[in-house]
Amino acid sequence: MCDLADLKDGEARRFDSGALRIAVVRIGDDVYALGDRCSHADYSLSEGAVDADERTLECWKHGSTFDLRTGEPQTLPATRPVPVYEVSVREGTVVLVLP
Ligand code: FES
Repeated sequence: MCDLADLKDGEARRFDSGALRIAVVRIGDDVYALGDRCSHADYSLSEGAVDADERTLECWKHGSTFDLRTGEPQTLPATRPVPVYEVSVREGTVVLVLP
């Protein structure tokens, strides 16, 4: 998908694959991939802030935070999870497994 070095530590970046929008987050050597569309309304999660300690991504529009590991919302107003995708790093390259 891209090199790990292309992802800024502690930030999210959006990738599009067909109709899918994916927010990819790097925290150190860990990489997470979530659906980029907030479950509360159609806003891009990759434009929100990453909390490296809590491992969450915050929706910039109304402030819901989503667990990077499960996609579950941690705070209102979102009540439904966003999808999480399998992602790994192989020899410095980020590999995303899409359904
Ligand atoms: S659009 Fe994300 S919390 Fe409202």
